[in-house]
Amino acid sequence: MIYETAPAKINLTLDTLYKRDDGYHEVEMIMTTIDINDRLTFETREDGEIVIDVEHNFVPSDHRNLAYKAAKLMQDKYNIKQGVTISLEKSIPISAGLAGGSSDAAATFRGLNELWGINDSLEALSELASEIGSDISFCIYGKTALCRGRGEQLTHLPKPPSAWVVVAKPDIGVSTPEIYGALDLNETIEVPTKACLEALETGDYEMLCQSLGNSLESVTMHLYPEVEKLKNTMQNSGVDAALMSGSGPTVYGFVQKERQAKQVYNALMGCCNDVFIARLLG
Ligand code: C5P
Repeated sequence: MIYETAPAKINLTLDTLYKRDDGYHEVEMIMTTIDINDRLTFETREDGEIVIDVEHNFVPSDHRNLAYKAAKLMQDKYNIKQGVTISLEKSIPISAGLAGGSSDAAATFRGLNELWGINDSLEALSELASEIGSDISFCIYGKTALCRGRGEQLTHLPKPPSAWVVVAKPDIGVSTPEIYGALDLNETIEVPTKACLEALETGDYEMLCQSLGNSLESVTMHLYPEVEKLKNTMQNSGVDAALMSGSGPTVYGFVQKERQAKQVYNALMGCCNDVFIARLLG
């Protein structure tokens, strides 16, 4: 049996540059991992089937699950006759902007690479992963990276300075295609990607807090005003910086002391069910 953890990611930046001929948006985003983890186990089956064992009302256990798609792709690409039972224990909120499904898929690529004795490089897995989702290539490595193209072209970056992250998700799920579909590229904000890169290079926490930006944030806030309300509440509760992650609706905030993290956590508990205190892993 193989065990893998699948950490959540947050966007320090997300800039949408232009719409491509293939319908995707060319993006530039800096992503990093936090210690909210799904847990997966992988067990070989001799009947060739892919079986997902998950107890969660909103997580499908069939071919719609990204972990299933990852396992199927591995079977086809490496001509594997064996199957697998994947047990999935969710902690990362779903449809949240935290790449929970993508991270589960990435853990599946890593886990099956070992379970089935494929032993291909992370680089090869990362390239293969982009066939089933834009954020999975990043999740193969986790850590911190500048992600370009659809999100699959990675440049690895130094890890961020240590900080507590309070993560809160309003009680709604947001669909990424819906948000990209509502994006007007003439109305996007300037995203401080360069400053964020510099903050990571120098390990400067204050500068990092000044260099967060997400051009999808206003789009999601326009459709779901509760996201803006949550960000305001977070900012008023004393975080050093706050931002929506990915296409939302999760908002995160940085603080340096555990005591402050608890204070922010308490302030947010009244407005949503999913509130976490985490650390930047990077
Ligand atoms: O690649 P993934 O399946 O995660 O993307 C989901 C949807 O998000 C795409 O179908 C597309 O509508 C949108 N998207 C985009 N540009 C990206 C990534 C995703 O428009 N770079």
